[in-house]
Amino acid sequence: MKENKLVVVEDLKKHFSVAGGSLKAVDGITFDIYEGETFGLVGESGCGKSTAGRTILRLYEPSGGKVNFNGQNIFELKGNDLREIRKDMQMIFQDPYASLDPRMTVEDIVAEPLDIFNVLKGKDRYDRVVELLELVGLSEEHAQRFPHEFSGGQRQRIGIARALALKPKFIICDEPISALDVSIQAQIVNLLKDLQKSLGLTLLFIAHDLSMVRYISDRVGVMYLGQMMELASSEELYGEPLHPYTKALLSAIPVADPDLQKTRQRIELEGDVPSPIDPKPGCRFVDRCPYGDDTCRGKDPQMEEVVPNHYVSCFKVKEINQL
Ligand SMILES: Nc1ncnc2c1ncn2[C@@H]1O[C@H](COP(=O)(O)OP(=O)(O)OP(=O)(O)O)[C@@H](O)[C@H]1O
Ligand SMILES: [Mg+2]
Repeated sequence: MKENKLVVVEDLKKHFSVAGGSLKAVDGITFDIYEGETFGLVGESGCGKSTAGRTILRLYEPSGGKVNFNGQNIFELKGNDLREIRKDMQMIFQDPYASLDPRMTVEDIVAEPLDIFNVLKGKDRYDRVVELLELVGLSEEHAQRFPHEFSGGQRQRIGIARALALKPKFIICDEPISALDVSIQAQIVNLLKDLQKSLGLTLLFIAHDLSMVRYISDRVGVMYLGQMMELASSEELYGEPLHPYTKALLSAIPVADPDLQKTRQRIELEGDVPSPIDPKPGCRFVDRCPYGDDTCRGKDPQMEEVVPNHYVSCFKVKEINQL
């Protein structure tokens, strides 16, 4: 069923020049997203999730690596080819308050991608807007209103309608629910899930909290300080995390199942995430890791398929998990 890789990310890097050196926001991440899949990307604030998303869409110029979309290397595309492929890739943003222009009507917000690509006009444009509003659980009567008249959840629906306007194949959802009330979060996740099924979308779902991506993601990648620490199916990652960082993230989430809770090792994360400016080679997690020592320094660990379809980047993964 899942065989076609829609997005192939290879050794992707995005470095920013800042006072003090090179800030390695994304420092060599590799993963694929299959057509029709939801891939969850998680990690603490500042680990490079949004930068990775923006660079994949080429909203930022990459510092290295490659992104293939539907068989085309998007970093090599120019002019019209780049413009065409952009129709297929959209983004939904974290903050539904900041991402909608307060001076535009809902109609014009949702139609903006249509206008940019000059695809529909007049009545066709209007009909498409109404169709999109209905698709996200809003209606025609909302079209002439302004963003301030809507709640956070409704605004996020407007943002989703806009992202769907050009019938994209792939949508990056950058923490689309973290700014919303808990009571609304499930509604938006369910909407995205339904849309994914009915429209055959492929999603990259970014979150800082593992519990949020669990139910929506087929597979999950865990990032730390610009690098990928672990990648596996949702089930496998939650059931049997192998990287000490993932274990630590998961042990912070209470689980309802007392048997599972007992088997969980509790790992406290000590200290803050270190600076991403000119990090030393070696595992980025070493100084916060209960198992970290000199074997983990000097060179970067590589992602290794430790059990089938379960990748971990840790020098000590076998020892720690007795594999
Ligand atoms: N335009 C920029 N110029 C310089 N540094 C940047 C820029 N954008 C991001 N960074 C830095 O890159 C690192 C990664 O930031 P990014 O926003 O990608 O993290 P994130 O994982 O999305 O965090 P959050 O969960 O808070 O959204 C941070 O250290 C951030 O300060
Ligand atoms: Mg972010």
